Order: sequence, then C-alpha cells, then structure tokens
Amino acid sequence: MAGNKIAPIRLDVRHMFAASLGRGLGLSAGHLERIKPLAATVHDDLVRQRRRGELLIHRLPQQQDTGPVKRVARRLRRTVQDLVVLGIGGSAPGAVALQTALCPPFYNLLPDAKRKGPRLFVMDNVDPDTFAALLDLLRGREVAVNVISKSGGTAETMAQFMVVYHRLKRQLGPDKLRERLILTTDPSSGNLRRIAQEEGLTALDVPPAVGGRYSVLTPVGLLPAATVGIDIDALLSGAGAMARRCSKADPVANPAYALGAALHLADAALGRRVHVLMPYADGLRQFAAWYAQLWAESLGKRYDRSGREVNVGPTPVAALGATDQHSQLQLYMEGPLDKVVMFMFVESFRRKVAIPKVFRAIDGLSYLGGHDLGRLLQAEGFATRAALTQAGRMNLTITLPAVDAPSVGQALMLFEAATVFAGGLYAVNPLDQPGVELSKKLTYGLLGRPGFEDYAARVPTDMRFKN
Ligand code: PA5
Repeated sequence: MAGNKIAPIRLDVRHMFAASLGRGLGLSAGHLERIKPLAATVHDDLVRQRRRGELLIHRLPQQQDTGPVKRVARRLRRTVQDLVVLGIGGSAPGAVALQTALCPPFYNLLPDAKRKGPRLFVMDNVDPDTFAALLDLLRGREVAVNVISKSGGTAETMAQFMVVYHRLKRQLGPDKLRERLILTTDPSSGNLRRIAQEEGLTALDVPPAVGGRYSVLTPVGLLPAATVGIDIDALLSGAGAMARRCSKADPVANPAYALGAALHLADAALGRRVHVLMPYADGLRQFAAWYAQLWAESLGKRYDRSGREVNVGPTPVAALGATDQHSQLQLYMEGPLDKVVMFMFVESFRRKVAIPKVFRAIDGLSYLGGHDLGRLLQAEGFATRAALTQAGRMNLTITLPAVDAPSVGQALMLFEAATVFAGGLYAVNPLDQPGVELSKKLTYGLLGRPGFEDYAARVPTDMRFKN
C-alpha cells in the first residue's frame, strides 16, 4: 500500500447547525466561537501527551513492527482450521468489527477453499451455554487460541483461558500447545505474561500506553485480522492517513476535532446526549458496536480531571440502516430532542444485485425494478437523513468510499482521535475506566480472590449468591 493514494473518508457536519435545522435546534456561530479557546487548550495538551509518549494511538500505524503479528498469522493460516479469540471489553470488539467489515459475509460458513484463513470465533463472554457449544463445535478440528488481556487479570478472560488451556494441554501435549496458544498482553506485567514466560508460549505485546478500547490497531486486533487474511498494511495505511489529518490544530482541517467538538457541543450546549451511529452497510454493523464501547467507556465519568464530581458522558447507541428505520427511527424522528444521529454511508459496495423489472403492472412495486439493492440502501439513507433534517433533528454524515481496509482504518482512527479530543472537552480522562475497575474487583471479592475480601463485604447480602 505504501505510496498508494488513500481515498479519504469525508465528514459532513452541516446538519448539526441551526442554519440547516432551524433556530434553536442546532449549533450556532456563537457556540463555535465560545468553544475555540477550550479546543485550542485541549489540542496543546494532546500534543504534549503525544510528545511524552502518554498518547500513542496516532503513532501506531507508522511506528509499529507488524513482523511478529504477520509471522504468527502466516503460521496459523497454514496449520489451523479455527482461531478462537478469548477477550472482553476492549480486547474483543475490534477483531469482530474487522472481521465483519473486511472478510466476506458469512465468512465462517464458507468452505475452506473460499476463505483466506481459519474460521474465527471471538468469545467475549462467559455464558456457559455459548462456551460449551463452541467447545463442542471445535471437537476434532485443528484449533488455535489467542488469549487477549492487557492486564492479564480479567476474571472472564482468565476463566476462559483456564478451561481452554487445560483441554488443549491434555489433547495436544505441551509441545503442540506452544504452537496453538498465543497470548496477547502487556509486555512485562500481569499473569498472562508470567505464564507465557514460564511455559515458553508465544506472546504478543499490547503497548503499555494503549488502553484496551484503543487497541484494535495493535496485535489485539491485528493478529486475528491478519490470520483471517485481512490486509493489515492497507488497514494501517488508512489509519495513518487519518492520523495525519487528526494531528492538525485547526478543527476545520481535523475531522476528529470537528466530530468530537460537534458531539460535545450537541450534548453540553443543547442536551443532545444520545449519540447514535447508524451505518448503512452490514459490514459496518459491528463497527457501530465497537464505537459504542469506545465512546461509553471513555467519556462516561464521575469525576473530571480536577477531581470535581461531574457525572458526564453521552450515551452511545449502535444502529443499522436500513434495518433500524423500522424500529428505532420512529423514536429518533418524534421522541425527545436528545439525540444526534451519525450516518455512515458507503459510496460503492463490493457486489451488485439488480432488482429485476417484474410486476410491472403493480405501481407499488414497479418503481423498484431496474434499480439495485445497493442503490436502494443508499436511497434509504439519504431519505432518512433528509427526514431527520426536516424534523429539526441533529445529524452528521461520515462517507466511506467503500467498506475496505483503507477506509475502515481511517474510520477507526477518526473515532479514536475524536474520543480523546472529546475527553479533553469534557475535561475527563478518556483513557481510564475506574467504574469498570470497581466491578472487576467486586467480582474478585465474590469469587474469593485473596486480597479482595473487603470488596466482597461491599456487596450487600441480598445481592450475592443464594447458596
Ligand atoms: O478499554 C478497556 O480498558 C477495557 O474495556 C478492557 O479492555 C477490559 O476491561 C478488559 O481488560 P483486559 O484487556 O485487561 O482483560
């Protein structure tokens, strides 16, 4: 991809403004003027964080050695039929989003010859019914397992790991186990790193300065992606191109600043605190789920950076066009004026399905004949945007040239950079997750982990196990 020109994704925020929506219904020039000094301060702060190496996301596309990921992926493609990813929170949705966007639809159902790599199963929960069903499904197959936990301590992932480790070791013996188990974790700390060192297992690094939900462009997302045949160089080239745009100080030239500022202002100045991401492409359905985790966990905070209790944070919602036009859209059109709808449109689809000119005598159907399904989906998106705009509902549009690796790389970087910038505007730390940490500790307490007895005592008796 190096040297190839990347077709840029585009952001259009016109329908966030009162000029488009009507007086009082959107942002005004005054809102923009008032936020300028704060935006400039946040920019300076982010530049300082980048220089100090505390904020790495912009550098990942260029300054990452993808050699180890590619080597492991090549080996797995040659030797296994199935890859299972174990992880939760930020460790899982990136791989799912990449697979859904960049592998052919119904990837796992395709015959081996039509797939570029093994089937991929991402297990992001510990529901025993699902987990047992997966173990049944994998019986008799050549399987590799990628355990992803930056901390190496998350109860859900570690429990999954222990189940799988025990089985694989019994079935394969220690030598083959080393080929089939890949641990992705912090380079030096945590239990997974310790186990990798003690047992000589293959381990890939999550850079310490990259938090779980920002880690899709590290081995966390890249190993599963490369193993199923996704062009990770093209993905990173796209992300790199967007990182360059997102390093500029001017919000007009920097799409992450424009996106972050528009959404922050919509919430803080106009009470539009529900931020819906609605792609019009099945391939981006899981991208919306990835965004929801990123936006919620990064911006939903009790305290601001100075320790003041603020309880801020927009509520993200993942939707899908046109499917959710027939469910959520009614609420977005006529419900409370508390939402921004972010459309994700795609200029060209990979396949074309023509709608034949049948039923010509039936007026209610004949108009469809001669179009194709992609055009219908695009028309649905355009119409919904026009309807929301006419109803005075704030919306913005992100247009991707295609659902391909360079565009998806750009979109991932755009949202990560916008989230970090929005964190600055909300004056919260977008990289921590103290609320998540507390529930982890309470779980340890309930399950009797030494050192967490005090946390067990904090769970009221009527909220514990009955027996
Ligand atoms: O974004 C985050 O930091 C979290 O969602 C974590 O990814 C999640 O809690 C899992 O943590 P770990 O990767 O340490 O197992």
